[in-house]
Amino acid sequence: MSNLLVTGGAGFIGANFVHYWRQHHPNDKVVVLDALTYAGNRANLAGANSVSLVEADIRDTDSVESLLREHDIDTLVHFAAESHVDRSIHGPAAFIDTNILGTMSLLTAARAVWLADGGKPHRFHHVSTDEVYGTLGPNDPAFSETTPYAPNSPYSASKAASDHLVRAWHHTYGLQVTTSNCSNNYGPYQFPEKLIPLFLINALHGRPLPIYGDGMQIRDWLHVEDHCRGIEAVLLRGRVGETYCIGGGAELPNITVIDTLCAAVDAAFAADPALAERFPHAPAARGVPSASLKTTVADRPGHDRRYAIDETKARTEIGYAPARTFEQGFAATLRWYLDNEDWWRAVLDGSYRDWVDQNYASR
Ligand code: NAD
Ligand code: TYD
Repeated sequence: MSNLLVTGGAGFIGANFVHYWRQHHPNDKVVVLDALTYAGNRANLAGANSVSLVEADIRDTDSVESLLREHDIDTLVHFAAESHVDRSIHGPAAFIDTNILGTMSLLTAARAVWLADGGKPHRFHHVSTDEVYGTLGPNDPAFSETTPYAPNSPYSASKAASDHLVRAWHHTYGLQVTTSNCSNNYGPYQFPEKLIPLFLINALHGRPLPIYGDGMQIRDWLHVEDHCRGIEAVLLRGRVGETYCIGGGAELPNITVIDTLCAAVDAAFAADPALAERFPHAPAARGVPSASLKTTVADRPGHDRRYAIDETKARTEIGYAPARTFEQGFAATLRWYLDNEDWWRAVLDGSYRDWVDQNYASR
């Protein structure tokens, strides 16, 4: 049995991880530490039984230390971050604060609690991104754990710095760390600023689908539940001090992802006439292809051209392999967004911020 502290557990991947862990390790204790920034949403944790959510900032080292002691935490899984590249271009300071200083604050607290008085068994798992490795040419070999770091955006630079801090706390102080660098996630509870949920919701509303540049940028798409299984594999079987690359085995140009999305929305409307009543502004409601919404816009500055992951180490050492193809994962994701309209409407109109009032006001 373990006592887990999950930072950023009210965000997209963190919340999926909490649900996953609750289901697969029901005897473990799970505490979520989250500052509930715009990306944090209490509703993401609805239905996760026996999970305590503590609203706090990872930069508050004293609070983190108290939490580690109070709940006798032995495993910290660190998701909390500013995570959107476009936001980092417009406002890099928050990324430096949260991703770098916040990670240092967690490491400081973990060291104080876990390494004092001869130490106790523990694990600090740091969740990072393949973006720290920079960008690939069309024929370059995929990123692996030995690829030199070459981050290009303020986001990826801040994540790269945090990876280095985690590594240093292991080598210098003996903190028992692991790190995973994964590719682009998609799935339930993803904030609709990222490509897949943004384009899905826009297609349902008949709004333009803004394609950056030529749309030929390549990402490796990883269903979030496969990512959670990868983190589980690292926690259970990974070697301390090591890093593991986790991918989805689905390297696709953006334009292919967007065309798949448009075709899937069209097929869903064709199969279920009730969708046309729910989403009357969708082109698909009138039998017009959703692809008619595709619009080319200016490219993102410094836009990385290609990411790809060689996950040989994770496969051979810890038995990780993605369980879904992109087609399967995407179909399940579309179904989730169609079935959970209340969730994304509350995010779009901002009322998710009032979740506590709505749910507890009368109690
Ligand atoms: P997200 O933006 O959806 O969620 C981030 C969470 O962290 C939110 O709940 C937010 O409230 C919380 N948070 C932010 N600042 C905080 C602070 N100072 N103190 C406490 N909590 C704070 O992000 P995500 O997409 O779920 O990503 C989770 C992690 O995975 C991040 O570290 C990100 O870099 C990494 N990652 C994400 C992807 C992806 O495709 N989304 C890919 C690779 C790696
Ligand atoms: P995003 O979901 O922001 O993830 P990341 O930048 O971390 O890879 O974007 C995925 C890809 O989609 C990326 O190449 C940028 C592109 N993109 C668009 O073309 N239009 C958009 O509106 C967004 C949000 C992303």
